[in-house]
Amino acid sequence: MQLLRDILTHDEIQSLRDYWNRYNELSYVNCWTYPGHAYRDRSEYIDRRLVIVNDSDQGRIMKRIVDDIWPGQNLSFWANFQRQAVCHQLHVDEYGTDRVNPTWTIIIALDTVPEWKAVIFKEMFNGNSKLNDFVAKIDYRSPPKGDYSKLHDLDHMDKWVDGVNYNFCNWFEIDGVFCYEAGCGVLFDTNQAHTTNNWPKYPKFTHRDLIQIHIGGSTATSSTFHDVEKGGESIPDATAMREKMQQLNSD
Ligand SMILES: [Fe+2]
Repeated sequence: MQLLRDILTHDEIQSLRDYWNRYNELSYVNCWTYPGHAYRDRSEYIDRRLVIVNDSDQGRIMKRIVDDIWPGQNLSFWANFQRQAVCHQLHVDEYGTDRVNPTWTIIIALDTVPEWKAVIFKEMFNGNSKLNDFVAKIDYRSPPKGDYSKLHDLDHMDKWVDGVNYNFCNWFEIDGVFCYEAGCGVLFDTNQAHTTNNWPKYPKFTHRDLIQIHIGGSTATSSTFHDVEKGGESIPDATAMREKMQQLNSD
């Protein structure tokens, strides 16, 4: 993983917030909380995503960020403004499943909040089913690689048995930890296992916002939107979304 310092200005952060405030009714639920979820009582959904269309001021900011990192490559990407209602568990972004080209994820903080973290691990998987297979085969008799539960607030995955914590994250190897700092971001391979920390345990937070960019097509001729659908997300069709945005602007 790579930390990206100061990639958004204060004005750009405000512009992205304005985009959310104006269009958030066009956002979609990426994943719902489920029966037994630790925070089911707090929210029906885990996160909502609002696609940042390429031909908006905010989309041009996204393109500048991608082009600064990979100059001259004109890589395909798609970006969203994301509102998380509760924390995520360890996962890989399905955008990278069965890819034929490299794929990358960038997370950008809009706020400086030390209690908000993204934790990136070195282990890589071709989709979450492979990650789950790996977890199922962990030999818990081997020594854990860390106590991330305490160090980085990953206690939403704790599993205590007879006084021993079988939080499977402790058997993964940390690549890096991103603490939210406004305008800064983190870049990592889409297939790296990663997770949010358990930020909802701090009662003062009702949600957290971030920008997410997915870079690279999984096939040689891919359209970024089709890639996302392939990964299991049902994001709105870009043309339909632009029409709805125009409607909102004319209201
Ligand atoms: Fe992710």
